[in-house]
Amino acid sequence: MVSDEKEYRAGSYPEPEIVEEAILVGSKALEKAPKIYPVPTGIEGLDELFFTVEVEDGKVIKKPLGGIPAYSVFNITGVSDTGKSLMVEQFAVKQASEGKSVAFITVESPANFVVTALKLRAAAMGFDFSKFEDNIILIDAASHSKLRENIPDLLATLAFVIKNYGVKFTVIDSVTGLFEAREMMARTVVRRLFNFMKKWYQTALFVSQKRSGHEELTAEAAGGYAVGHIVDGSMVLAKELIDSSYKAKQYGAKIGDVVRLFRVDGCRLSGHDIRTHFMEITDTGLVRILGPVGE
Ligand SMILES: Nc1ncnc2c1ncn2[C@@H]1O[C@H](COP(=O)(O)OP(=O)(O)O)[C@@H](O)[C@H]1O
Ligand SMILES: [Mg+2]
Repeated sequence: MVSDEKEYRAGSYPEPEIVEEAILVGSKALEKAPKIYPVPTGIEGLDELFFTVEVEDGKVIKKPLGGIPAYSVFNITGVSDTGKSLMVEQFAVKQASEGKSVAFITVESPANFVVTALKLRAAAMGFDFSKFEDNIILIDAASHSKLRENIPDLLATLAFVIKNYGVKFTVIDSVTGLFEAREMMARTVVRRLFNFMKKWYQTALFVSQKRSGHEELTAEAAGGYAVGHIVDGSMVLAKELIDSSYKAKQYGAKIGDVVRLFRVDGCRLSGHDIRTHFMEITDTGLVRILGPVGE
């Protein structure tokens, strides 16, 4: 007998109750469903990897979405130096350049350093940062341990920013920094952040670090596989040293080369390309997604 049952029989549990508000027929649930639209990411080659499915004349047709689905929450996962920060910076700059407000929670690098990186990213993307710099609202959890160590304070601060600046896009670099030295809390922390993003209708990117022991191209991150399962999807970044003729052949590279790889691992709100792609970091510091491996 499981302990719940024991307690229940002992009378310490109240009578079971039907939670009627939790029951919705499909049409009622759809009335509350936000309309999904594409959010261009500012990352060359990425927007084309997402699609929707429609039925036309009885035929199933795949249509390109042209961005990540709005209201989705993604983990950007990889070991260090794989381009996670560059990617989320490009995303923030892209939204800001289009006049949208972005909350950028920085957990590892203080805000004054992050803003320098954002400015560089904007320049590499061909934008004049000074035209939209105030559209990015930095929340400096790197300099304020209270925000790092107390999730309710962090979420209250973010809610304040969302309300006051009309924010629809949130970046956290990184969520891993919010459960440093207490990795058993990873799921609880990510679950709270995820629920918050849903409640506030945010399209959000969470940087999530892989430990070096994790397999390169899986969605596993610090805190385990379950952290990836909480969010709507993961984008996995990897770099692979070509140290065998087998790998050289597999990737069409030379021994001693480093190839960068990228894969979308799941997306609940739209269809997506499931292949592993080559990825590049340009010398101006921009991430670009290239063609699929092996084709
Ligand atoms: N101009 C540049 N600015 C910043 N990083 C660059 C630039 N050119 C190349 N890189 C490479 O980008 C990588 C850093 O990516 P980053 O996004 O900081 O990694 P992560 O956040 O995954 O640790 C490094 O490997 C660095 O060599
Ligand atoms: Mg980083």
